[in-house]
Amino acid sequence: MSVQKELKKITTRTLLDMKQRGEKIAMLTAYDFTFASILDEAGIDVLLVGDSASNVMAGHETTLPITLDQMIYHAQSVVRGINHCLVVVDLPFGSYQGNSKRALESSIRIMKESGAHAVKLEGGSEVSESVRRITSAGIPVMGHLGLTPQSIYKFGTYTVRAKDDDEAEKLRIDARKLEQAGCFAIVLEKIPAKLAMEVSQSLEIPTIGIGAGSGVDGQVLVTHDFLGLNKEFSPRFLRRYLNLHDQILEATRKYSGDVKSLDFPNEKEQY
Ligand code: KIV
Repeated sequence: MSVQKELKKITTRTLLDMKQRGEKIAMLTAYDFTFASILDEAGIDVLLVGDSASNVMAGHETTLPITLDQMIYHAQSVVRGINHCLVVVDLPFGSYQGNSKRALESSIRIMKESGAHAVKLEGGSEVSESVRRITSAGIPVMGHLGLTPQSIYKFGTYTVRAKDDDEAEKLRIDARKLEQAGCFAIVLEKIPAKLAMEVSQSLEIPTIGIGAGSGVDGQVLVTHDFLGLNKEFSPRFLRRYLNLHDQILEATRKYSGDVKSLDFPNEKEQY
């Protein structure tokens, strides 16, 4: 029996239980079948079909251009690759802001057409009505506070958020509001570690940090970043576990050289 068959399916309840017993949650992004299968087999708890697909898959500068249809396509591919992970899908920019009815319609499309298990949206009190509406339809919602990349043109920079007292206080209030509205977890992105720990301890639901220190209930990284596929992006919070960029470059140069020098294919590699 393969490893993934032995792992129990992760649910939102599992994540709550993990927080209660102090077991950290490991989350990564996935956008396709092959990566999702490997990450699932490795025992990752949550796969996020992030709108970072807009950057790492489509090559856009921001997360804003990716569409709901494109997110659903990525989510369908990821769902086909998993056995036990909880799959969460980002509601893309323009599919929920300022309109809780549209937020529900977009979430229903994601759930129905992809088979994913939950959606994620960015923002605090301004999206709490949407969170209520989506969860009342039986769809689990993950929140996202701190650096929220869909608001990059409001922030003007990808720097650390909530460093001043006013923004930190707003984040504490927003986290409580998201919990009250029914979120099952909240991503905290690029905020001071002390604030992230305080917010995590004040909530019943788990927090998942990215650049938010170790006092949160779990961690998330963009898979292309932790595998070293992307050489340009080097924030302090990123730990690279591989240097796939260089390895792929070297392998590709070798392959190309082998083809041109008639080394590939050899006699054993043909029929
Ligand atoms: O889209 C994404 O990859 C994300 C993570 C950075 C949390 O939202």
